[in-house]
Amino acid sequence: MLLLAMLACAAEEPPVDAPTYHADVAPILRERCEGCHSDGQVAPFTLGSYATVSTLGEAVVDSVETRRMPPWLASDDCNSFEGSRWMSDDEIATLREWLDAGMPEGDASGALDPFEPLDDSLDGATHSVAITTPYAPDFEQGNDDYRCFVVDPEITEDGYVTGYEIVPGDPAVVHHMILYLPTSEDEEARAKQLDAAEAGDGYTCFGGPEVDSTMLAAWAPGTWASEYPEGTGIAVPAGREIVMQMHYNNAGSPDATDTTEVLLRIEPEVEDELYSFFWVNGRLNIPPGEAEWTETSETRVGAYVGNLPGTLTLHSIGPHMHSIGRSLNATLIDGDDGSETCLLDVPRWDFNWQFGYRYETPVTLEMLDRIRLSCTYDSSDRDTNTRWGDGTSDEMCLATLMVTYDGD
Ligand code: HEC
Repeated sequence: MLLLAMLACAAEEPPVDAPTYHADVAPILRERCEGCHSDGQVAPFTLGSYATVSTLGEAVVDSVETRRMPPWLASDDCNSFEGSRWMSDDEIATLREWLDAGMPEGDASGALDPFEPLDDSLDGATHSVAITTPYAPDFEQGNDDYRCFVVDPEITEDGYVTGYEIVPGDPAVVHHMILYLPTSEDEEARAKQLDAAEAGDGYTCFGGPEVDSTMLAAWAPGTWASEYPEGTGIAVPAGREIVMQMHYNNAGSPDATDTTEVLLRIEPEVEDELYSFFWVNGRLNIPPGEAEWTETSETRVGAYVGNLPGTLTLHSIGPHMHSIGRSLNATLIDGDDGSETCLLDVPRWDFNWQFGYRYETPVTLEMLDRIRLSCTYDSSDRDTNTRWGDGTSDEMCLATLMVTYDGD
């Protein structure tokens, strides 16, 4: 009886108005997935044909319903970000309805043309840094290898980085990359000491470069070239070397080696200097055994940047926690009337995706405004308190802010 019922069910025609692959599903995957899930791109399989997508049906729908995919942590309910990959509830519902209707293919004459990757290379690159000796990521300890390389862009005159492009050695293993600019020659020297103290090129670094630095560039798969807001750039002094933090993930290429290169466009002058700094909630003390523990801090903007006359314009924000981080929220509280503006909401943190999010409309920060930063952790598996630190089992709660200063 049961078998008959199942057969009857399988033979049933999908409802007439059910979404079909060609008409409804493929356009969503084209927009949301194929930038990475296509030949030669970072994801381990393609999502461009009925054959593959219908084989993976349940996995595809589950990945979007849980918002593991596409990789994009900042909710659109909070603010509007350029190039947002946050999927609408309707798009997700369409994929679910299609799966539940038995994944009808629909009319193949309406099939999309094959995917063409975007050409987003950087115009006018002036410098480059690269891992010159092919690096073999070490996957002995697990699926991830975090490594910092001290690289020399050979900057001969002070200038400003206005854009960058990453040329990954092997896109299949390079999961993300962050470029850090040591804040002084001493900090640069410390990075070199860390490098010298470890065998092979570079040194192990998990949460950051382990020396005082500002963030110059953050890259995660999906885009290759990035430009800072028009007319802005981050100052780089002549001679300064840069720390390139690589996260290698073993998604199926255990023998790969990497020679990632980063192209930089450094210009002698910009209209507005772009400052990158960390907004930190640093007094963490997370007790063990808490499935949901929130740490919140609230600080006045002026107290953070030294009460400058004038205002700041916030261009982008990037969340950062470590492995027991679960969600993060940053809210701007108006100094005059206490009204609140959501700056960033990350309902589901994922350490694997270190993106910065650029506002569609930059936000003005007044010196009397406050920023509240909250991070929520799951310490169920811990048996001691977790504190702030660089190590894998330490935690962080910070937002990288990129601002320009609208002085007097
Ligand atoms: C920015 C690049 C990128 C985009 C966009 C992207 N993916 Fe992925 N996807 C990856 C990478 C890389 C992996 C390999 C696993 C990892 O690194 O997390 C992956 C893995 C997966 C997996 C297997 C792992 C899991 O968590 O289930 C599924 C399923 C998946 N992607 C579905 C999708 C779907 C569906 C979309 C679009 C709605 C999408 N992806 C968009 C990069 C991307």
